[in-house]
Amino acid sequence: MTDRSDRTRLIASATRRGRGRRGVSPPIERASTLLNDDPAALRDESAGPVYGIEDLGAARELRSALAELEGAKDAWLVPSGLAAVTVPLTALLRPGDEVLTTDALYGPTRRFLKRHLGHRGVTATFHAPDASTDQILAAVTERTKVLLIESPGSLTFEMVDVPALAEGCRARGVLTVMDNTWAAGLSFKPLAHGVDVSVQAVTKYVAGHSDLLMGAIAASDPAVCKRIAETIEDLGWRVSPDDAWLALRGLRTLPLRYAEQARSALAVAEWLQAREEVAEVLYPPLPGSPMHALWSRDYVGAASILGVVMKGGSEAATHALMAAVELFGLGYSWGGFESLMTHETGQMAYRRGEPALGGELLRIHIGLEDPAELIADLARGLAAWRAVIR
Ligand SMILES: Cc1ncc(COP(=O)(O)O)c(C=O)c1O
Repeated sequence: MTDRSDRTRLIASATRRGRGRRGVSPPIERASTLLNDDPAALRDESAGPVYGIEDLGAARELRSALAELEGAKDAWLVPSGLAAVTVPLTALLRPGDEVLTTDALYGPTRRFLKRHLGHRGVTATFHAPDASTDQILAAVTERTKVLLIESPGSLTFEMVDVPALAEGCRARGVLTVMDNTWAAGLSFKPLAHGVDVSVQAVTKYVAGHSDLLMGAIAASDPAVCKRIAETIEDLGWRVSPDDAWLALRGLRTLPLRYAEQARSALAVAEWLQAREEVAEVLYPPLPGSPMHALWSRDYVGAASILGVVMKGGSEAATHALMAAVELFGLGYSWGGFESLMTHETGQMAYRRGEPALGGELLRIHIGLEDPAELIADLARGLAAWRAVIR
């Protein structure tokens, strides 16, 4: 079914699941113990799982649908998006190795590099979020074993040239792991661009309803796949059957939600960009964004998350804005059906360089509400901002 669109394939995998009378969705199979009538077959894994730590029903279907979406030989599920990044790094790095990554890395991933891997003899080096391919490749040393790509980066959404980096890394014997949560497996296919491991927080767009945490890892190279599978086995990760079922349900409507939210996000971004209170909207699909050319070249869609750099301001003004909006939930995460807003200063503080933002930074996630009503709500928020500033 490779000639079909993701939109069709993600649904066709439901109507063609098995034969005979069956549900469109699999049953939720809750089991630690799996009984077997044949004592000789108790350990026989060729006939399917022998214990509940292996993926059952919905998780198996989700894995194969995600592998197909990523164009990967295999995909694995882990209990969070963060674990989807930490597992391949654990699998691929050894004491003495170095991992190179962006300074705009998702904060908890950076913490994992510094604390967990740091205690185990792996060093992390960070490149500027907007570094060129040449600059990033020049930072590769003989100890660099993995380039961890997050593009667009967290909070400020800088992009790097992934195909060129993947090629350069391959030539140097460096593996590439990409946090592809922004593309949700849809708008950019890392493996097709030479990346070794694509991961995403299923928590975000795939689940789509802000009601579960899960991560997915996809890869094709047999040696890389073996290391990842063994690491998951060694660490004992497994996802809940209920969560796998919900994520599989989310996957069916992923392309429509993702596209609709991106449409609204662009409308909101354009409106915000024209406001006098706003210095810059950080959103690669926005024409005029320094990342726009790279995004247009490589992506066929977009996430619905914006960084909004205000003209100066104060924490009090930001809080007034956030208290005034009625449609945006104040809370973390993104990719769900609902609009959200956070005030992002904590993660910026990690960064090596001075954040040259010059103003308060809001992170806005656009959901499935009517975009005109979201814009009216933001106008209400900006009025509250002005009341504090003036
Ligand atoms: C880019 C990125 N990667 C990974 C994660 C982690 O996902 P989870 O919340 O499922 O651990 C997040 C969460 O915000 C994220 O923004």
